[in-house]
Amino acid sequence: MKKIPQNLIKLLKSKKKINLSSYIEFCLFNNKNGYYQTKKSIGKDFITSPELNQIFGECISIFLVYVSNMVKCNKKKSIIELGPGNGTLARDIMSTLRKLNAHDNWNYNLYEKSDRLKMVQKINLGEDCKDNSKWIKNLNTKQDRPHFFICNEFFDALPIDQYKKENNEFKKKKIFLNSCNNLSSAFFKTKKKIQDYYKKINNEDIIEVSEKMENIIHRLFNVIKKKQGMIILFDYGPFNKKNMDTLQGIYKGKKCDILFAPCSSDITHHIDFKYLKSLALRYNLNVLGPITQRNFLLSMGADERMRILLNKEKNVKKQKKFLSSYKKLMDKDEMGELFKCIIFHTNRYKIPFKYNV
Ligand SMILES: C[S@@+](CC[C@H](N)C(=O)[O-])C[C@H]1O[C@@H](n2cnc3c(N)ncnc32)[C@H](O)[C@@H]1O
Repeated sequence: MKKIPQNLIKLLKSKKKINLSSYIEFCLFNNKNGYYQTKKSIGKDFITSPELNQIFGECISIFLVYVSNMVKCNKKKSIIELGPGNGTLARDIMSTLRKLNAHDNWNYNLYEKSDRLKMVQKINLGEDCKDNSKWIKNLNTKQDRPHFFICNEFFDALPIDQYKKENNEFKKKKIFLNSCNNLSSAFFKTKKKIQDYYKKINNEDIIEVSEKMENIIHRLFNVIKKKQGMIILFDYGPFNKKNMDTLQGIYKGKKCDILFAPCSSDITHHIDFKYLKSLALRYNLNVLGPITQRNFLLSMGADERMRILLNKEKNVKKQKKFLSSYKKLMDKDEMGELFKCIIFHTNRYKIPFKYNV
């Protein structure tokens, strides 16, 4: 186990035990030593789809232009990217929109919590920062125009709480220091009311609930209901999430326990796509998916684009590197199937492909 930061020890000593979600929030976003606030994470400890290969952003751009062209609209449309990381997807989307002569029809908004990553985004976006893009703090937009939210590996980075059913009673996970001053976790009795969605689970099952995710997704659903638009979400998880502990840390590229390296490891969990779908249906939204990331990208012409880019590249070393990143993005036993895409949209938009999964 790595050293526990002094400010976390102080917090745990003063509170005795804290919620799992408070522990995750501290480890990822504490101003002094939080992982996303202070460490070079994306592209070092783990790799994301936009960082792997430009085709990811190009396919999303083609999709955006295709669906938005179906509806006559004189106003500019807004793209809002949640958790833009290094700004690579934003850069790829803006440059593709420019190539498609569609740049002037859109503005680009970045919603980012980490001050360090905001700086990285500004540097990586360069000139693009100046015209059509800005950072926003509030998702309750007042702008009366269609909104297209893009979330890649955003929801799996939000803090969660875990509840366990024991003897037909729900208990909540807490984090504390044990008698040897090591980080420890256990389930304790709770008065928290569990949503009906989870009522039928079995004893010993664990459910994962994110209040932060609930707040954000309800805000996004409300915005697209009022202003029209779409939420395009890519994230990590199976089609049917099991009632079990899916939390994992990533330390220097390797999986680890979330208590192993507080503030020095990433912490993620599996997304419950079925649950998100159930929420969207309450808003009478249309839902496509979840489908695999691979299927989304293939439907948007990823293979054809890959062949064009490969033909343009004359350097054999670069060709090999490009092909290997494309394989990781698309392969069934890699990100192609581990990652899923789910799209929530209002009736006006017709998706250019259909999958029944
Ligand atoms: C796993 S990274 C994904 C980065 C990027 N989307 C990519 O694919 O490379 C998660 C991102 O979400 C941001 N993030 C996490 N929680 C957030 C919150 N509550 N509000 C805004 N951004 C948040 C992180 O700072 C980071 O940029």
